[in-house]
Amino acid sequence: MIQDKTDIGTFIEGLPKAELHLHIEGSFEAELMFKIAERNDISIPFDSVEKLKKAYSFNNLQEFLDIYYAGANVLIEEEDFYELTKAYLDKIHRQKVVHTEIFFDPQTHTDRGVDFDKVITGIHRALEEAKKNYGITYRLIMSFLRHLDEASAFDTLESGLKYRDIIDGVGLDSSELGNPPSKFKRVFAAAAKAGFKLVAHAGEEGPADYIWEALDELKVLRIDHGNRCLDDEALTKRLVDEQMPLTLCPLSNTALQVIKRMEDHPVKRMMDLGLLATIHSDDPAYFGGYMNENFMAVAEALAMNKTELAQLSKNAFTASWLSPAEIAKHHQAIDDYVASFGI
Ligand code: ADE
Ligand code: ZN
Repeated sequence: MIQDKTDIGTFIEGLPKAELHLHIEGSFEAELMFKIAERNDISIPFDSVEKLKKAYSFNNLQEFLDIYYAGANVLIEEEDFYELTKAYLDKIHRQKVVHTEIFFDPQTHTDRGVDFDKVITGIHRALEEAKKNYGITYRLIMSFLRHLDEASAFDTLESGLKYRDIIDGVGLDSSELGNPPSKFKRVFAAAAKAGFKLVAHAGEEGPADYIWEALDELKVLRIDHGNRCLDDEALTKRLVDEQMPLTLCPLSNTALQVIKRMEDHPVKRMMDLGLLATIHSDDPAYFGGYMNENFMAVAEALAMNKTELAQLSKNAFTASWLSPAEIAKHHQAIDDYVASFGI
């Protein structure tokens, strides 16, 4: 049966959603980048927003990261980090995202001489404001750049300890190939000891072995991406048995050519296998869409129905760091929403 695109679009727009895989620096829209660059008197090597956006065409993760780090260069003041985060929160509020767990990459900024304090204070101020004004709940995850060394990650952890009451977890991102999770085993152990929750990008471009390492050596609670788990039957079984969340990002995967066509995206196969798959936006300013666009992309390409889309959203709340009572409340809201469609 051919599904009614408008109908599915309307359903997705009103569906309560949780975002668990979002790099705040990846939500930096070109328009805002130009505005902040001008304010900070930093030049961007593009004449216009349109020309900059034309450069958003990537063959792999590294090509994207080069542009992503260049864009982040214009962020200097506390106000810049506040505006960046506020713009993201305003956007997701319009998309019915009611809970978000966001990554920030301190080293992207501290390596340029920007104070850790300015970064976190700006982000946190916007998050608190959105909680008050929109009721959006949040968690904050400090992510280590895996192309840098262990000592730099330890320095970052040290800076984060001062904000232990604001930062809920640590993550691992950036260039995956050649930088296995095991490189950060000791930092993750120290972070766990300090009470941080743990997640890591694994199996995005890297092999299934990196997912094993993230589980066994880093002892993560969620795998970010994890697409490549399907290459390994024993790993897939373990992920199903443990109901380990996989935070998938469909538009990111096609933009970075991790997956060639959306029709080949594994999310539906993963659900059928019993994996705890969830859908998120990763770096929405660069990959063509926020949560709704990601849901719509898989709904269309894989002909997913409302029940399956609602299940994906419920999975994200299950995988979130909200309390069991809050998770139950969100699950109920989704069930009520689905029932309002007569399903
Ligand atoms: N940093 C920002 N986006 C990323 C991604 N998709 N993979 C790894 N590191 C990232
Ligand atoms: Zn990511």
